[in-house]
Formats: sequence, C-alpha cells, structure tokens
Amino acid sequence: MSAHAKISTAEELRSRIDPARVPEHVAIIMDGNGRWAQRQGEHRVVGHSNGVKSVRDTLVGATEIGVRYLTFYAFSTENWNRPQAEVDALMDLLVNTLMSELDSLNENGVRLHTIGDTDSLPASCRNTLQEAIRRTAHNTRITLTLALSYSARWEIVRAARSIAQDVQEGRLAPSAVDEALVSSRLSTAGMPDPELLIRTSGEQRVSNYLLWQIAYAELWFTAVLWPDFRKEHLFQAVLDYQGRERRFGLTSEQLDPA
Ligand code: IPE
Ligand code: IPE
Ligand code: MG
Repeated sequence: MSAHAKISTAEELRSRIDPARVPEHVAIIMDGNGRWAQRQGEHRVVGHSNGVKSVRDTLVGATEIGVRYLTFYAFSTENWNRPQAEVDALMDLLVNTLMSELDSLNENGVRLHTIGDTDSLPASCRNTLQEAIRRTAHNTRITLTLALSYSARWEIVRAARSIAQDVQEGRLAPSAVDEALVSSRLSTAGMPDPELLIRTSGEQRVSNYLLWQIAYAELWFTAVLWPDFRKEHLFQAVLDYQGRERRFGLTSEQLDPA
C-alpha cells in the first residue's frame, strides 16, 4: 500500500467517527512485540523498540479525535519474571524514549502520568520518569499514562490495605467504604474509567490490567501485533465502539424508548 493510500484510509476512518461519542479514556494492552521480532528472525527486543512508533502514532491519533486519557500497559508486575536481559532492555528503552520524546510531548499538549509500583523501577527510570512528569505537568490536551510494574491485583491489595489502616486508626467508618472510596484509593484516582479496552496480538485476556476500572469497558481485540498498530487501528476500534449499545444492565427498550 502506498503512503498516500494509507493516509487517506486514516482520514476516511476518522471522518466517520462521531466526535460527540469519542471515549474519554482508552486503555491499551500493547502485546505481540516479541512475536513480531521473532517472525523476522530478530531478537524480541527489536519488537519492543519498534513498538515505540506505534505508541507515538496511537497517541497522535487519540489526540486528533479528542480522547482525553490514553493508558498503555507497558510493563506488568509479572513481566519482572522475564529474562533479565529483556527486562534491562525494556528499562533502557523506557529511559531513552522518554528523553527523546519529551519535547514532542510538550509540543502536543501531552501530560505524562504513571500507574504501578514505580518504586521498584531502577533509579535511572524513576528519575527520568519523575522529570518527564514534572516537565509535562502543565499540559492539558491529553493524559498519557504508562502502567509500569503494574498489576490490578497489586493496586487493589494496596487500596484495601490503606482503607483497613484508616478504619483501624479511627479515621474511616466501615460504612463509609463505597465504590467511590475504593476508586479514590486506586492509582487511577481522578481519572474516568476506560470506556474502551484494546488488546493487540490476538490474545483475548486481560492479564491483570485495570480489573476494577474496566467493569463496563467495551473490549476490542485485534490480531495485529503491537509494532504494526497505527492510528487507523485505533480509529477502527473507536468506530466499532460507537456502533455498540452500552446497556449497563438495562434493556434496549429502556435505553431507547420508542
Ligand atoms: C508486549 O509484547 C510488551 C510487553 C509485555 C512488555 P510481548 O513482549 O509480550 O510480545 P509477545 O506477546 O511475546 O509476542
Ligand atoms: C501483558 O502482556 C502486559 C503488557 C502488555 C505490558 P503479556 O505478554 O505480559 O501478557 P500474557 O503473559 O500473554 O498474559
Ligand atoms: Mg505478550
């Protein structure tokens, strides 16, 4: 496909999106980097490096259609158990990418945020992240959240512990523990729940991602491997999302009385 044909496809898809019903928060499980590299006889790490272009293009696309929060699963708690060389390469890639993309994030109004146990990241990553977060804190167009050393069960346990502590010390009555309070103790506090969750690479599972927050998210799976993912795919997912009826337990008739 020529570059021109590809561009017009993205524009054509984008023109069909209803701007009034764009999801406010899109969460993405970027999967398939290793397989993408191995298919061309390269080391898995080559797939991770190529995945950066996909992050950039998806971020541009999300900004174009007015998504306010874009949350990428970049490294799970379980991913610490991968071979050390791969973990190290991922951490280096994170630092290098943050440094090289910082100006572009600022030019595009992107506020960087992280969720996860970032204390467990190497000091160089923590410092670069803190610096990038500080230097993009004033931006308001879109919030780009990287889930790093993240797992949903980790954050739910952490929330439960902080609530238990407050109850034990008399600051909180058990009857005051409700959904809003639990949400406010999660690392996504203050963000709307994702309306749309995308996973690439053909796997159809959630892998410990945002379990509380995706209670009513629409799920969209694609066989495309993450390094091949572009904004066209995001637009396709959003169009698909816009064609669905979100019932939240009600009946169709209740939602659209004739
Ligand atoms: C996703 O790609 C990136 C991370 C989990 C860090 P993978 O590395 O999981 O690629 P596959 O699934 O093995 O192909
Ligand atoms: C999920 O992908 C984590 C990230 C995308 C960072 P994995 O490749 O680690 O998930 P599983 O092991 O296939 O479920
Ligand atoms: Mg994977």
